[in-house]
Amino acid sequence: MQLFDKITETTNFIKGQLGNMPTIGIILGSGLGSLADSLEVEKEIPYHEIPHFPASTVAGHKGMLSFGKFGGKIVVVMRGRFHYYEGYNMQEVTFPIRVMKQLGVETLIVSNAAGGMNPSYKIGDIMLINDHINLFPEHPLRGPADSRLGVRFPDMSEPYTENLLRLARESASQHNIPVHEGVYIGIQGPTFETRAEYRWLHIIGGDAVGMSTVPEVIVAIHSGMNVLAASIITDLGIQEIAVEVNHNEVLEAANKAAPKLATIFTSVIKSL
Ligand code: HPA
Repeated sequence: MQLFDKITETTNFIKGQLGNMPTIGIILGSGLGSLADSLEVEKEIPYHEIPHFPASTVAGHKGMLSFGKFGGKIVVVMRGRFHYYEGYNMQEVTFPIRVMKQLGVETLIVSNAAGGMNPSYKIGDIMLINDHINLFPEHPLRGPADSRLGVRFPDMSEPYTENLLRLARESASQHNIPVHEGVYIGIQGPTFETRAEYRWLHIIGGDAVGMSTVPEVIVAIHSGMNVLAASIITDLGIQEIAVEVNHNEVLEAANKAAPKLATIFTSVIKSL
């Protein structure tokens, strides 16, 4: 079955269970589940019930699509995402974005937990992503081109929509939430970086590094969406202070900073 037909099948399955279709999609990263606390839920569908959806496996990820109202708008929230390191191919990792598009989503809002390489960053800081470097070994658009999904050679000069960045910046300053803006590097994981890798990632232009987001953003841009993305800095890979990283620390730091990010996302969504 062609990708487009799978997307259509999945979209029809979801449409059959929904009243209102979402125009905004939100992906909640590790430890950021509480962002959905202020969602007025209309419908929740576990991933394993959705045709062609893989099942999420990582601790800290719930594994369902929640539909409802957030900041007065109809949204679809991915509670937990599919990571390349789990063994999914890039078409599987990005499949939910394709489905969101067919449901009518125009704006994608993405969050993740990331390691900070910029020496001015501290644990718990928020970084609005203003650009990325794709270091994943497989590209989500590799394969036959289907013009129903997007063009063969998509432009990537502004993957993070300037207007959404401006709204996020303004909202952060209104609420006295300090934010950085920087470059996110997407790597496959699942190992955290060696000190030499963190150093190298900073030298090539990265401010933060993580194991997600870039594939989803590429597909969102390919399908014509606007994108806002933010990282919570959950550990630091700055050379002199490089310390051990573990998944629990990442979750804890993300949990703590989640309310700040929720405030920013909520006010951006309200103003859309
Ligand atoms: N590296 C890669 N992925 C991550 C990190 C990190 O330091 N922290 C959270 N996700």
